[in-house]
Amino acid sequence: MFKKLKQRWHVNALNLVLILFTFAIGGSLCGMAGRKLMAFTGIDQGFWWVFIYIILVCLLWPFCVLMISIPFGQYSFFIAYLKKIQARMSGKRNKIIRVAIFASGAGSNAQKIIEQMYLSAKKGEEVFRVDLIVSNKPDAGVLSIAAKNNIDTLLIDKERFFRGDGYVAELKKAGIQFIILAGFLWKVPVSLIRAFPNKIVNIHPALLPKYGGKGMYGDKVHAAIIAAGEKESGITIHYVDELYDHGNIIFQATCSVSENDTPETLAQKIHLLEHKHFPEVIEDLLKMQNSR
Ligand code: GAR
Repeated sequence: MFKKLKQRWHVNALNLVLILFTFAIGGSLCGMAGRKLMAFTGIDQGFWWVFIYIILVCLLWPFCVLMISIPFGQYSFFIAYLKKIQARMSGKRNKIIRVAIFASGAGSNAQKIIEQMYLSAKKGEEVFRVDLIVSNKPDAGVLSIAAKNNIDTLLIDKERFFRGDGYVAELKKAGIQFIILAGFLWKVPVSLIRAFPNKIVNIHPALLPKYGGKGMYGDKVHAAIIAAGEKESGITIHYVDELYDHGNIIFQATCSVSENDTPETLAQKIHLLEHKHFPEVIEDLLKMQNSR
């Protein structure tokens, strides 16, 4: 139960304890304040006393928990929490889209997407939630990022991914509605694409349709761009279809390639672009899907 709460609220164990304390102390304070105010009304205990007391407690509760949240350092959590309650009550609450990130490497893009999720949640404007990190490499850095953020992981096996069901059953069971490929180096099997039509996006470290396709990933892309003497490179965010690096393009951004660039320096420029744009593009895309 505590693990689920940590995931849902995007908090670590210490913050979870402080939040639960705030709920408990804020709730008691609110009950006490409610009883004191009721004493002033002179109403005898009975139906009307309970009725008015409940209304009072509902009105006082936000103030009490906010007050208590300050010394516990949880003010921003409770502001966002109250905003969410308000949005839910006024029927304006966004549906939160449950996302899986597929990654094979260090996971810096996954990290940025998770940070975007926290940022929006803090503002009470959560659009998506990363519920699962999927990797094909047991030692991928992205798995440590998942562990640090209390996000469930799924390690996938090549044979089953390509010749089996593409793990569709596991993803559906986890409630996944949208898939982000963030440095995922296997081709996505048709079974998965059909199970998530227009719901899988990829980031590619070049300006597609150039420098895409089988074997074109990471530094290999940058080396090819430098070898070809290109003056410009960039990033492409696109839907995934049944061909490598081919689906409809959602977003591109460019950077210059200088004569002194090496695959490593170009990779740094590309990462900067990716980190700046990928989380925002994902959030905007999911906002649009939400409003349909
Ligand atoms: C990113 O640059 C991404 O564009 C690239 O792998 C890197 C992963 O970095 N993806 C591809 O090459 C896919 N063809 P990260 O693990 O630090 O996010």
